[in-house]
Amino acid sequence: MTTYIPTSQIHIPEGMIDLGVGDPDFALLPLDMLRRAAEACFAKGDPTFLQYGAEQGDGYFRMALAGFFSRGYGFPVDPDSLFVTNGISNALDLICAHFTRPGDTIFVGEPSYFLALRIFADHDLRIVPIQTDKDGLVIEALEEKLAGFQPKFLYTVPTFQNPGGCTLPQERRDRLVRLSQEHDFLILADEVYHFLNYSDRQVKPFAAYTDLETVISLGSFSKVLAPGLRLGWMQAHPEVIKRLVTSGLLDSGGGLNPFTSAIVRELLEAGDLEQNIARLITAYRSRLAAMDTALHRELPQATFETPQGGFFFWVRLPEVDAEQLQQKALEFKVGFRPGVRFSSQGGLREYIRLCYAFYDEEKIEQGIRRLRQCLEACL
Ligand SMILES: Cc1ncc(COP(=O)(O)O)c(C=O)c1O
Repeated sequence: MTTYIPTSQIHIPEGMIDLGVGDPDFALLPLDMLRRAAEACFAKGDPTFLQYGAEQGDGYFRMALAGFFSRGYGFPVDPDSLFVTNGISNALDLICAHFTRPGDTIFVGEPSYFLALRIFADHDLRIVPIQTDKDGLVIEALEEKLAGFQPKFLYTVPTFQNPGGCTLPQERRDRLVRLSQEHDFLILADEVYHFLNYSDRQVKPFAAYTDLETVISLGSFSKVLAPGLRLGWMQAHPEVIKRLVTSGLLDSGGGLNPFTSAIVRELLEAGDLEQNIARLITAYRSRLAAMDTALHRELPQATFETPQGGFFFWVRLPEVDAEQLQQKALEFKVGFRPGVRFSSQGGLREYIRLCYAFYDEEKIEQGIRRLRQCLEACL
């Protein structure tokens, strides 16, 4: 008898191409780079990183991270504005725990990253959806909702959104920040895909607004290094950081993930993160192009915007219920995420999310071909 021994969160049946998986390709995880960083860290002979960590996160790690941001964002980032997390999922959970009470109202874009919705549900928050268009949040729709509700926060993925792939234009960012000040709500800007930009167009991150108490920028190493590190950051005003740093959780357990921070610090100081991001951009740009071509060729009835960064295509299949299609797709050994998963209202049923990061070009083309065959069989 063979016993199933779980190792990663990903379970794909044999022979299946699951374009619904939104994770990095195993083949692109930087095993050697992290081995070198770990060796350099252990070779120092300083056991401090094995101790309970500083509450806000290791100071040297935050300095190295701030240096990376200052180069990458093009404006100076103060290490003291950074708080180390176990990733964005953990940061969202912490923020909900410390800034909300059960029953509080929050705003999210429709569609939204579905697993954030699960975290908000854990905290019994009342979700009010905000309309989006091909560029992201519609500010007029937000203004209308603000006339009727006082949200604790608005959660958004402003750049290369999951699932929509879209990027909020600068003018809307400015208006959103102004509204957060006028109406006193927090903006949780999930900037997980910010550095995975395949275009020449630079985007100003919400990190640039964190001198204001209403803006929190959330980031993670999950998509630019490896999700298994469980390491990320929050950039925010000192008052926001103070609230988290003085929490019982950190008082008891110390700062989050000092061990991994110390290893990633080596990698940052060696300039390896820039190198890894450049490698990923080359790989993902080519995979994006492969999916774009395959979609145009195989599914001419589909409508979508070609993304400029991130991991996803958000595709509308007219007159299709994507959840029903998902059952049929199993027979064709292809998978996707149905749009309804990204709706807080049970809507978006004609949409599917496809990820081009997990498979190489050949598998992507094969997967889209199978999707076409599946759709043909349904007609
Ligand atoms: C928009 C978005 N936010 C957060 C996460 C999860 O981030 P982390 O691994 O840092 O918890 C993901 C992962 O898919 C994501 O797409």
